[in-house]
This record gives sequence, structure tokens and C-alpha cells, in this order.
Amino acid sequence: MMKSRRGWAALIAATLTLTLVGCQKREHAGESATERPRIGFLVKMPEQAWFINEQRAATEAGQRLGFDVVNIGVPDGEKTMSAIDNLAAQGAAGFVICAPDVRLGPAIAARARQHGMKFITVDDQLLDASGKPLAEVPHLGLSSYNIGTQVGEALVAEMTRRGWNVAEARALRITSNELPTARERVKGATDVLLKNGMREDQILDAPQRTTDTEGGFNAASPMFAKHGGVKHWLIYALNEESVLGAVRASEQLGIPSENVIGVGINGAGEAHAELSKDRITGFYGTIAVSSTAHGRDTAEHLFRWIKEGTQPPALTETTGVLMTRENWQQVKQELQL
Ligand code: GLA
Repeated sequence: MMKSRRGWAALIAATLTLTLVGCQKREHAGESATERPRIGFLVKMPEQAWFINEQRAATEAGQRLGFDVVNIGVPDGEKTMSAIDNLAAQGAAGFVICAPDVRLGPAIAARARQHGMKFITVDDQLLDASGKPLAEVPHLGLSSYNIGTQVGEALVAEMTRRGWNVAEARALRITSNELPTARERVKGATDVLLKNGMREDQILDAPQRTTDTEGGFNAASPMFAKHGGVKHWLIYALNEESVLGAVRASEQLGIPSENVIGVGINGAGEAHAELSKDRITGFYGTIAVSSTAHGRDTAEHLFRWIKEGTQPPALTETTGVLMTRENWQQVKQELQL
């Protein structure tokens, strides 16, 4: 008798718990439909000015349109997966992501599906298991090849203005070949150099381990040391942080700034700081793209998808404009940076 009463009590307790959990779950789903939606904004390098600005713009879009943005840095795969889990636990209905490794595509997609979350990629498009872009995930990024050609054109124009002999100059091509957008950007610049009289053997490859200033510095240093006889250098890479790192390396090896032309991509805070220095450095300029638009538009697309079921554009490619010492303040204003 006693035993069976305890048995009933246990059964009732278990049923109650299950019911409560069920209610909580339902309440949760109901909540996200009526209350202020929440989204995540996940970036691979949260300390980089480009990404800081993207997250700020996403947060501001939320303040304007009525949703909350949880900004998270995801420097590796493990942190990416736990960030998605944490977002789900906080009731977020989706996220925008620039992942630390584009090969995480299938893992990120599976985790999002598991939690019933929608997501959009920004800047770096994820790949599927066979190495093709995850086309079913909406993506917003810069038009990589075109912006690369703008880098090449700026390098050639400045080299011409300085009256360099193309046959004697060398180009330092900092590469990040695992990342398709990086490959495309660098290829765009290379094609322009080749069209303007540079030979392939004048372009020296410096693979970088990380796509930041330190990565650029470490890639460039040994190359400048090894090619001490070269007088005139062009420098390009996937972004301005990498070019800035290489410019710092050239300074450390005593290469005069008038013999260096570095052109980056991004137009974020690091470039503004460099271009406003009294001292003219080897960093000539950068192709500025609106990180504000990237952050604002992806957050808004995701929000409308969650709230109204409006499917975001499958692919959005943004454009850039050359920012130099002469026009950086004006470009900064135009791009709302
Ligand atoms: C990549 C780079 C960033 C920035 C974005 C812009 O993610 O690592 O520095 O250039 O692309 O799309």
C-alpha cells in the first residue's frame, strides 16, 4: 500500500514536471511572437573596427525598429556553437553571422535548424560540405572581385603618379586562400596589376595566418627582409588591417614610406586613424565599404524575416569607394561610418 502510494506520488510529480516544462515551452514560443524579438549578431573578430561598427549598426537598427541585438564574438568553431545554443536559450529567433571559418557551414546550419532559428551570413559566405557556397542561406557581402580591381587601380594610379618604373617594382600580395572572398579580392587586384605591365614573378606571395594587423605584419616581415634589394613596393591584401600590418613591417625594416604604396579594403576606424596622421605613411588608402550598411541591413532583413515572414534577398553585393588622406572624412560621412 505505502509502496504504491509512493509510486503514484512519483508518477504525479513526473507528470506535473512534464506539464510545467511543456507550458513553459509554449509560453516561450508565444512570448517571442508578441514581445520584442531578439536576434544575435556573431562576428569572428569582435575587436576589428569593421565588425565593431557592424554590430553597432545592427544594435541601432534594433532600437529604431523594435528588436534586441545580442552582440557576440565567435573567434573559433566551439565558441560559435555555444553562442548559438546560448542565443536559443535566451529566446533569440535568429542570428546574423560572420563565422571564423567558412567550412563551419554545415555545422552552423544544423545547429540553427535544431533550435528552429533563422540565420543570415554577412561578409564571409559559408560553404557546404563540398566546398560550394551555402546558397540557401541569405548572404550580404562586398562584391569581392570588383573591389579587388579598385585596389589594383588605386595602386597603379599612385605608382604612375610617383613615376615608378613598373619593371623594377614588386608587389607584396598577402593571401588568405581558405577564404573565398579574400581570394576573389586579391585576384581582382592582381589582374589589374598584370594588365598594367607587371609580370607574375614580380608579385610575391605572403600567406597570412590571421586576417588582422598582426597577421599582415607576420606575413610581410620575412618577405621584406628577404628582398632587401627591392626599392619600390606595392602592398595589398583582403583588408586594410592586413595592409597596415605590412606597412608597419616595412617601417620596422627601414623602408622609406615614399617607396611603399599600400591599399586596403574596409574603410573602418583603423584606416581613419592612419589617414589622419600628420606623418605620411606607406598606407596610401583603402576601398571603403559601408560596414554600417552591412550591419544595419542584415539585422533588418533578419528581423523582417522573423516578424513578417519576408524572405531576405538571397545575395546582396555591396560596392566601395577609394578613401585616401584627401577625402577620408567626406567618404566616412557618405558611408555613415
Ligand atoms: C572579411 C574580412 C574583414 C572585412 C569583411 C568585409 O570578413 O576579414 O576584415 O573585410 O570581410 O566583408
